[in-house]
Amino acid sequence: MPRLPKLPAPPLPAALKAPPARPGEEDGRLGPIEDAKQAGITIVDWVDERTSLSGVGRWLLFRKVPKGTNWFYTLGSATLFAFLSQAVTGVFLAMYYRPDPAGGAYESIRHVTNEVFLGQFVRGMHKWGSSVMVVLVFLHMGRTFLFGAYKYPRELNWVIGVVLLVLTLVMAFTGYLLPFDQRAYWATIVGVNINGTGPLLGPYLSDFLRGGGEFGATTLSRFYSIHMLLVPGLIIALIGAHLYLVTKLGTTAPPWEKAENSADLREAKA
Ligand code: HEM
Repeated sequence: MPRLPKLPAPPLPAALKAPPARPGEEDGRLGPIEDAKQAGITIVDWVDERTSLSGVGRWLLFRKVPKGTNWFYTLGSATLFAFLSQAVTGVFLAMYYRPDPAGGAYESIRHVTNEVFLGQFVRGMHKWGSSVMVVLVFLHMGRTFLFGAYKYPRELNWVIGVVLLVLTLVMAFTGYLLPFDQRAYWATIVGVNINGTGPLLGPYLSDFLRGGGEFGATTLSRFYSIHMLLVPGLIIALIGAHLYLVTKLGTTAPPWEKAENSADLREAKA
């Protein structure tokens, strides 16, 4: 089994090092900007001394990346950003939303769109953002596939990615019902019926989604709870695992980059 070469620890970023005193500053008096900078460093130092969190931050952010890394490597972070934007806008929408099938859900969305300050903007961001996230997650998967990033030792990260892809689609599907207008209602009936045609588990899955044999009052609250509690929780946990593995294993070099003939990478002869 090939062994991965151990990389040296990344250096402490300059922003966290106290700068040496400038000529004329030896008396200890600094300008207001320098004072503010020193206060920032002091606070970071105080927290770090008690938690050692800067080590984690450095491990996560100051990594060596392979030669040939390009813009396509930003697709994963772009997906992460889309998810964070969905999370923030979703929290604000949840402040007004009522999962009441007898007209309350539709009315609460109408209220957000027409009457709440910036409501239409936040709802628009969430609605368009969901499509953006779906497109980005597919592009990111395409990049990792075409660059062979699913191969050893990153198979587990690929599998976690597949689960993230399914969960992203579940978010889009469950969110679609929430406005509870005609389009949402009928599209979801079609979607749930399509799920029901799956082999073996299909009928159980559609029963679970409906909350029974018929599309009824529990369906909406079930979709709402899946959409804002269950699946986001799973996505956050899995993104954590995904990024841990990205940091631990590093990213794959593009397939057209040839490995350097370094002594570290040559296998020892027995
Ligand atoms: C919520 C969804 C996802 C997020 C937020 C996410 C985030 C990221 C980030 C930030 C990276 C590192 C930078 C990069 O290569 O772009 C990465 C790498 C990776 N992702 Fe994802 N990802 C997601 C979904 C997926 C999916 C659906 C797959 C595949 C099925 C996948 C497979 C991988 C693999 C194999 C790597 C390692 C890339 C390499 O070594 O070059 N990810 N991911």
